[in-house]
Amino acid sequence: MAKTIHILNGPNLNLLGKRQPEVYGSDTLAQVETACAALGGTLGLDTAFFQSNHEGEIVETVHRARDTADGIIINPAAYTHTSVAILDALNTFEGPVIEVHISNVHKREPFRQHSYVSLRADGVIAGLGVEGYELALRRMASLLA
Ligand code: DQA
Repeated sequence: MAKTIHILNGPNLNLLGKRQPEVYGSDTLAQVETACAALGGTLGLDTAFFQSNHEGEIVETVHRARDTADGIIINPAAYTHTSVAILDALNTFEGPVIEVHISNVHKREPFRQHSYVSLRADGVIAGLGVEGYELALRRMASLLA
């Protein structure tokens, strides 16, 4: 049976493509979703894509993933740097977790250089643009093989 990967996206990523394109590029989140679904198909992985601007909704999506996902790829966006609640939720998930950032957070403001989610993530990708999602999916395929 195909393994299922949940790809979770935090606040303001619904505006990807329009929001600070000099930082985040011009691809939309819908395009990222389509690319991940296509790549997932070739890797034998089903993908389910989510975006929310609300911390509690992201927590609840992680809770649902406990029963429905084999792995989680998450770009928590600004909640990366603030959310103990999302970290705690991810700590209840047993499969692999990969954290993705489109921009290189280490090259930006000091407050972006701390991630609560990294305390749980099995791997972190930052600064590789939206391609980071596909690279994370490839890594998931090897981790779950
Ligand atoms: C981001 C980096 C975060 O610092 C920022 O708040 C985002 C997006 C990224 O993908 O580069 O919204 O997670």
